[in-house]
Amino acid sequence: MTVTALDSVQVTQKALAPAVYIVGAGPGDPELLTVKAQNILQQADVILYADSLVPKAMVKLAKPNAEVIPTSTQTLEDILPVMIERVRSGLSVVRLHSGDPTLYGAVHEQMQALAAADVPFEIIPGISAFQAAAAKLQVELTVPELVQTIILTRTSGRTNVPATEELASLAAHKASLCLYLSARHIDVAQKKLLKHYAAETPVAICYRVGWPDEKICIVPLHQMAEATESQKLIRTVLYMISPALEGHQSEARSRLYHPDHDHLFRP
Ligand SMILES: C[S@@+](CC[C@H](N)C(=O)[O-])C[C@H]1O[C@@H](n2cnc3c(N)ncnc32)[C@H](O)[C@@H]1O
Repeated sequence: MTVTALDSVQVTQKALAPAVYIVGAGPGDPELLTVKAQNILQQADVILYADSLVPKAMVKLAKPNAEVIPTSTQTLEDILPVMIERVRSGLSVVRLHSGDPTLYGAVHEQMQALAAADVPFEIIPGISAFQAAAAKLQVELTVPELVQTIILTRTSGRTNVPATEELASLAAHKASLCLYLSARHIDVAQKKLLKHYAAETPVAICYRVGWPDEKICIVPLHQMAEATESQKLIRTVLYMISPALEGHQSEARSRLYHPDHDHLFRP
């Protein structure tokens, strides 16, 4: 028996076909799991989960006889044969990733290997850290006439960012910029961002959004690195640099619900 989070939503309950389900777990709060993800977790025969970023509460949804495998100490070479073998034995396998799997989820190489092995897979999207952070901050990242673009990026670390996506050049857009995986290099990032954003531009430093030890603070851009270091934040931090964080000072409003604006559903 599966549970739906929303009583009013009719959810199709089909038995899970043998396949790998690459599921987004959201940022940490178990209630931010989608209904589809929850149903699949409850039915899966095998769950492999990134235990460094996914709370244990989510794997407690597993059925009693499910095989649950934490993967934080494993390589892709350890994980792949398990997934392939289980699906070939007729079992359903969940690969549970934090946030949305398509963002910094290392799923590209997994999908290539699964396709090469002729193992079917499906991606179930999740709520990414930037969305959870914006919700906690009660901010719209696209305030009309102030900012209409969101950039999701990171600094180079052990993974290099292509030269065409250099942070200083992205900063030139002065968009709502969400910086993932960057706490260890935040002093370099701050210098690059200051080439275009004003020093007083608000930055939200969002640590472990949705977890019991969540910490969120807003500082001016020129204090971003210092605030990170003084709080000893080195991982699971999402930085949001955006004019929208001072958006309450803007009188701009969207045309969508404006009385002077007609459209198909409100002629
Ligand atoms: C390997 S990436 C995974 C991103 C994930 N797929 C997503 O969509 O949010 C890990 C990075 O995501 C960000 N992150 C993930 N969960 C977070 C959370 N709960 N609070 C703040 N940042 C988070 C941090 O920048 C962290 O370094």
